[in-house]
Amino acid sequence: MSFDDDEIRRLYAYPSSDRPWVRSNFVATLDGAAHDAGGHSGPLGGDADTHVFHVLRSLADVVVVGAGTARAEGYGPSSVPIAVVSRSLDVPEPLVVPGQIVITTADAPADALARLRETVDVIALGEGEIDWPAVLDQLGSRGLRRILCEGGPTLHGDLVGLDLVDEVCLTIAPVLAAGDAPRIAHGPHAVDRAMTLGHAVELDGVLFTRWVRERT
Ligand SMILES: NC(=O)c1ccc[n+]([C@@H]2O[C@H](COP(=O)([O-])OP(=O)(O)OC[C@H]3O[C@@H](n4cnc5c(N)ncnc54)[C@H](OP(=O)(O)O)[C@@H]3O)[C@@H](O)[C@H]2O)c1
Repeated sequence: MSFDDDEIRRLYAYPSSDRPWVRSNFVATLDGAAHDAGGHSGPLGGDADTHVFHVLRSLADVVVVGAGTARAEGYGPSSVPIAVVSRSLDVPEPLVVPGQIVITTADAPADALARLRETVDVIALGEGEIDWPAVLDQLGSRGLRRILCEGGPTLHGDLVGLDLVDEVCLTIAPVLAAGDAPRIAHGPHAVDRAMTLGHAVELDGVLFTRWVRERT
């Protein structure tokens, strides 16, 4: 089927919600690998996935991304603020510019915290571990309620573990990868989070799916 921008926006419209809504967006191979043999995810879904990736950004108020992904994929500023999640505060320099956000713990390295605070909006909440419910409140209080988490698997695993992921947009690429690439979420504790299919649409041999968390 054709997949123009209006159709993509209709399929992926955020629900109206007075609380922050956490959507994650990933691409995976048929056997569940979250990156290709070179360690990158961008090329897996081809042009159609790249296009959807950018439309999803345009629908969001903020992109939340782990520092590992920001470093691996060469993140820089975008049309929406990028909130980099890091414990070490090793944030890629292109993201240390006004308008960007860093999410970390209150006990992150003090010197790096002070340096970042001179330039970016720093949300430092939680001792040892990021206090995610408090972070989502802080983003909401800044008017950033349509949250797009672009990974990676470590950050996603933490958010799934805390049951804070409301929706998963998963592109299934027509590729087998084998190897030892991570899945789209991993972490120390296994959980079962039931999801309901929102849509499944094929374009150019790539399957675009959207899944919503069942909350009773
Ligand atoms: N298939 C896809 O759609 C997709 C999407 C994204 C990424 N990827 C791939 O995934 C790989 C990277 O995986 P990854 O698991 O390392 O990515 P990641 O979650 O982006 O990065 C892990 C790093 O992010 C920070 N971080 C994540 N969660 C944190 C938390 N709760 N608290 C504090 N810091 C946190 C830490 O940074 P510090 O080390 O700075 O403390 C941690 O070392 C790359 O190959 C990338 O291409 C694939």
